[in-house]
Amino acid sequence: MIKPLKKAVLPVAGLGTRFLPATKAMPKEMLPVVDKPLIQYAIDEAREAGIEEFCLVTGRGKDSLIDYFDIAYELEATLRERGKKSALEALQPSSVQAGSLVAVRQQEPLGLGHAIWCARSFIGNDPFAILLPDDIVKSGRSCVAQLVDAYNQTGGNVVAVTEVPREHTNRYGILDVGADDGKLVEVKGLVEKPNPEDAPSNLSIIGRYVLTADVMEHLAKLERGAGNEVQLTDAMAKMIGHVPFHGLRYEGTRFDCGDKAGFLEAQIAFSIDRPDLGDAVKAFLKKYVDVV
Ligand code: G1P
Repeated sequence: MIKPLKKAVLPVAGLGTRFLPATKAMPKEMLPVVDKPLIQYAIDEAREAGIEEFCLVTGRGKDSLIDYFDIAYELEATLRERGKKSALEALQPSSVQAGSLVAVRQQEPLGLGHAIWCARSFIGNDPFAILLPDDIVKSGRSCVAQLVDAYNQTGGNVVAVTEVPREHTNRYGILDVGADDGKLVEVKGLVEKPNPEDAPSNLSIIGRYVLTADVMEHLAKLERGAGNEVQLTDAMAKMIGHVPFHGLRYEGTRFDCGDKAGFLEAQIAFSIDRPDLGDAVKAFLKKYVDVV
């Protein structure tokens, strides 16, 4: 029987060094794309997949992420007093049901695999999604919902994948591909950040995963991999052959907001089709393009 998927882990302990000084005193996951922080995109995406329980894996200096999901009594009272209805509505997505969001701390930056292992008590024996908030996906149906749809058919592990230029394979987890129906790909092998000449394909994992709890047993060994970090990819690779394991070519566009160019592109992509901003954005883009 395929267990229903209700939990998500969001690793948010990273230092955000690529965005200094902006991230000196605020978590990078609080950086907004248009008017919503990155963390909110991830939560919205998970909710669309029917996920109701969240675990943030945080680190020192990241407590404002937890405050963000709390009730802001004074702010709400002031807005209500002043009749600011739309501002109050804008706060709605950041409210969570009592007890449905927990946080654990990753005390040392030992890698993504270690961050996920820190959530083991929250996971217990349940399957779960992982969302890396650096990646946001613009799509019709949410990317995680697409993964859960596939998981409900196949069970086991399902990771979101996309083709990348071969010279970029050393930035991602890369698949060795088995049977491929154009959408769902059987995972035969996984390598973390291989050099282009060693990469088994150019099909890369983006920051969206659905995994069974068994991954925790492999992570518990805390074996170091690429970059001397505990790699999630290595733990997943050990599950190949033991659980069904697929890559899903999701429908949508991923923006790597951990990268400055990707972050800026996301601002354009998410604002250009908004009724309140689209015309203004198109007009100023034309202005700058004409200058180039
Ligand atoms: C992590 C994973 C990598 C994956 C990537 C997706 O890398 O280790 O396998 O492809 O996220 O964004 P990171 O971006 O943390 O270096």
